[in-house]
Amino acid sequence: MSQLFKVPDRVKTGSQSPIQTPEQYREHYMRASFNPSDYWLEVTRRKVRWMTEPTLGLVGSYHNIAEEPIAWFSDGTLNLTETCLDQHLEKNGDKTAILWEGDEPDEIRSLTYSQLYKEVCKAASALRELGLQKGERVIIYMGMVPEAAIAMLACARLGAIHSVVFGGFSAEALRDRVRDCGAKYVITQDEGRRGGKAVPLKAVVDQALEDERLVKNVVVFKRTGTPINFNKDRDIWWHDMVEGGAESLDPVECAAEDPLFILYTSGSTGKPKGLVHTTGGYLTYTSYTHEVVFDLRDDDVYCCAADVGWITGHSYIVYGPLANGATTMMFESTPLYPDAGRYWDMVSRHKVTIFYTAPTALRALAAQDEDFVKKYDRSTLRVLGTVGEPINPDAWNWYYQVVGEGRCNIVDTWWQTETGGICISPIAPVTETAPGSATLPLPGIVPLLLDNDGHIIRGPGEGKLCLAHSWPGQARTVWEDHERYVATYFSTYPGYYFTGDGCRRDGNGYNWITGRVDDVLNVSGHRMGTAEFESALVNVDEIAEAAVVGFPHPIKGQGVYVYAVLQPGYEASEEVEKNMRMACREAIGAHAGLDQIHFVPGLPKTRSGKVMRRILRKIVEGDGDKLGDISTLANPEVVDVIRQDFKALA
Ligand code: WT7
Repeated sequence: MSQLFKVPDRVKTGSQSPIQTPEQYREHYMRASFNPSDYWLEVTRRKVRWMTEPTLGLVGSYHNIAEEPIAWFSDGTLNLTETCLDQHLEKNGDKTAILWEGDEPDEIRSLTYSQLYKEVCKAASALRELGLQKGERVIIYMGMVPEAAIAMLACARLGAIHSVVFGGFSAEALRDRVRDCGAKYVITQDEGRRGGKAVPLKAVVDQALEDERLVKNVVVFKRTGTPINFNKDRDIWWHDMVEGGAESLDPVECAAEDPLFILYTSGSTGKPKGLVHTTGGYLTYTSYTHEVVFDLRDDDVYCCAADVGWITGHSYIVYGPLANGATTMMFESTPLYPDAGRYWDMVSRHKVTIFYTAPTALRALAAQDEDFVKKYDRSTLRVLGTVGEPINPDAWNWYYQVVGEGRCNIVDTWWQTETGGICISPIAPVTETAPGSATLPLPGIVPLLLDNDGHIIRGPGEGKLCLAHSWPGQARTVWEDHERYVATYFSTYPGYYFTGDGCRRDGNGYNWITGRVDDVLNVSGHRMGTAEFESALVNVDEIAEAAVVGFPHPIKGQGVYVYAVLQPGYEASEEVEKNMRMACREAIGAHAGLDQIHFVPGLPKTRSGKVMRRILRKIVEGDGDKLGDISTLANPEVVDVIRQDFKALA
C-alpha cells in the first residue's frame, strides 16, 4: 500500500465549503447515497438562484433511460446567469470576477462582477437584436479571451444553447459541429494568440462555412487587429454589435432541464458526439464541486489553466467559479511561453491561491530546471489540482514538493465531459492523498468496478469503472441522438453508466484510474478517437489501411502510433508521411499530431476480418513477446514482421 500524505494543517477562514472534516465527508456521502433527491435539493437551494424553486429531485433511472432521459429539479425554473452574475452584484459588485492574462505577461485585463454583468447584458441584447432566440444554437470558436466567457453567458442569458469549439480544431471539424447542431450564429475572433504565435480563427471559420447557408451571422471579436476577410452580408464586429447594447437585460426564464450547452467529444467509434448539458443540475453540480473539492474561500484567486474549448473550461473557469462569486483567471498562453517559469511568474504576480492544470503540463515543466519554479514566490498557493489524465507519481511528487513546497493539498480530480463536473477526487481539507490516486468519490457518486462478464468486483481489485447512480451534473443525452447516448454509455453494463475507463481499487478504497479501456486516446490531455485518425488516414491516396493505437509517452501521457498499409505500387517516403500528417490536421486539428508511423505489410485480423488492436497495442507497449496464441488469426505471419520491425525501430 502506498504512503498517504496528510492534509496540511492550517487555519480555516472564509471557507464556503460544508465539507471540512472526514466526519462531514462521511455524513454527506451517506446522505447523498441514501437519498440523492433530498440531498441535492438541499444543495441546489443553497447554491442556485431559482425563479421557481424545484420540489422534484431525480426523475428517471438508468434502467429505463432509453425511454426517459434522466431529469433533475425538473419542476424548477431559472436563468443560470442570475446565479453567476446578478446575485453577486449587491455584495460583491466590485470584486474581480475575471482576471485575464494574455499571451504576453504584461497584457492584463480584469472585469469586476458589475462590469461582467454589463458586458453580458450588452452582448445578450445585441445578439437578440440579431435575432437569436431561446433554444437556438450558437457556435463559439475563440481563443482564451474574456469575450469567450461573455459570449457563453450572453447565450445563457437568452436561453440560447452554446457549443464552444476548441480553437485548435480544423475547418472540417468545425463544419461538422456547425452542421450537427444546426447553428445559425458563430462567434469568433480575428486571430488568437498562443505562445507568441497567431492562431487564424476567422480564416478557419470562413473555410468551414464555405458552403453553409444556414449560418446567418458571424460575430468577430477584434483581438489582434490583423486584416481579415470580411463578408459584409454575414460578418459583424463584436464591438459594433455590442455598442449601444442594454447594460441591463431581463434574464429569460428556462426550465431546469433546458439545454445549456452542447459540447462535442470523441468516442471509440464514428464522429464526435454532441453531449448535452442542461441548466439546473449542471449549475448545481459545478458550483458545489468547485467549492467542496478546492475548499473555496472568499478571498481566493483561483486559476485554472485550461481552455474554454474543453469541459474543464466550461465547468471550472466559467460556470462553477462565477456561480460561487470567485475570482477566476483566464490564461491565453502556454506554460512554456516565454519560458518554463510562466505559471509561477503568474502565480506570484496575481497571488494565486488555487491552481489547476493538466499532468502533461507538469511533466513538461518538471523536465526543466527547478530554478524556473524557485525564482518566483509561491507562498500564496494552497490547493494544487490536476485533471485530464492519470498523473504519474513522479509528476505528482514534483508538484507537491517543488511547486507546493510540501504545504499544499494536491487534488487529482477524475471526471469527464460526460460527467459535467468532478466525480472522484480528494477533498482538499479532508482527504489524505496518495501520489497517482484520484482517491475517493464525492457525495452522490457511486463507483463500481465490473469485470468483463459484468460481475461487480468487491473490495480491492481492478476492473471497468462504472457509476451506479445519477448525479445532477451528468450529460443527459447526445444532441438529437438519444439512441447513441444509450448505446454508448448504458448498453455495455445495463443499469450502470460506463465511463470507458479502467480503475484499480486498493485496500483503502482509493481509486487509481488506469486509463481508457476503449479506442479513445488521451494525448496531452486531449481526447481523440482512434477511428477519427483512421478515417482521415485511409483518405490519403497512398494508404490502403491504417490502425492507430496509443503508446506510453513520457510527456504527453500517450502518443499516437500509426500502423499503415500502403496501396500496391507505393513505397514509404517522407512525402507519404507528410500527406498522412496533413490529412489528420485537416480532419481533426493542429493537436492531432502523429508521433510514430510504422508501415506494415498488413494488419493482424481475425478470420472474420476484424483488426486485432489488442495485439497492435501490446506490441507498442513493448509486450510483443507476450501475445499468447495468435494461431487463430487469419494472417499470423504479419505479426512476426511487425514485431521484428518494432524492435528494430525501438
Ligand atoms: C477522460 C475524460 C475531465 C475534464 C478533462 C478531460 C481521463 C480525466 C483524469 C484523472 C485519470 C483522467 C479519463 C477520462 N481523465 N481526469 N484525474 N485521472 N484519468 O475530459 O476530454 O472528457 O476526457 O480523461 O480517461 O475518461 P475528457
